[in-house]
Amino acid sequence: MEVVICKTYDELSKQAANVVAEVLNEKPNAVLGMATGSSPLGLYQELVRMHRDEALDFSQVTTFNLDEYVGLPVTHEQSYHYFMHENFFKHVNIPIGNIHIPSGSTNNYRAFCEWYENRIEECGGIDVQILGIGADGHIAFNEPTSSMASRTRLKTLARQTIEDNARFFDKVEDVPIYAITMGVGTILDARRLLLVANGEKKADAVAKMIEGPVTTMITASALQMHSRASVFIDEPAAANLQMRDYYDWIQAKKPDAPKQ
Ligand code: F6R
Repeated sequence: MEVVICKTYDELSKQAANVVAEVLNEKPNAVLGMATGSSPLGLYQELVRMHRDEALDFSQVTTFNLDEYVGLPVTHEQSYHYFMHENFFKHVNIPIGNIHIPSGSTNNYRAFCEWYENRIEECGGIDVQILGIGADGHIAFNEPTSSMASRTRLKTLARQTIEDNARFFDKVEDVPIYAITMGVGTILDARRLLLVANGEKKADAVAKMIEGPVTTMITASALQMHSRASVFIDEPAAANLQMRDYYDWIQAKKPDAPKQ
């Protein structure tokens, strides 16, 4: 796993956005996996800036979002449909038909999840999956004890996630209890993983993800089993890392490293 520790949130967002831009420059019709939440907001803002100022083109891009709350209409300000349109899609040129976000209102979740998995495959698989991490170590809504082989499915959110996300709602009772989420197995199938995390609240989960045992108790630890996972974090999120010096050393020596 590549660990990049940045001085600020702004810097980590820019570095992560550069990775996405590199992928798009190499493969203009790339399939991007999208995340919601506060962590990737800076990354999206930077991609929007690159689209506006540097003509970064999304016209051939296809996207798949990680997850969606069950029961919120797409017009609800806290739905992930709304979040993605407001914070990213309406600012770039991805054809609307190329955007996929799990449905939080289907009347057949099982069939929908199967369709979603098949659709990812039909589109050639995800080239780069953007991820955040929950304070309990989850990726997407794969709460502790989710199977490492799990696929897109309906999931009951953990109490901690509901409490963490209550900050976006008027009251904790308004936070949906269920979500539809890609599985850990679905995420591991992406060709490249790009996780962003910032702030001291994430320090414990980040350390466990990078340096702890691979365990379903911290589903983000599955990144250790991926051959191309990069983690961009700020100083507070890096606070509990034991191998900090080594990660900094690798980054310092990267410009001189033999080309792979
Ligand atoms: C959202 C998602 C979640 C978040 C995680 C962190 O699509 O997949 O796993 O990435 O809950 O959320 P923030 O970034 O708001 O701290």
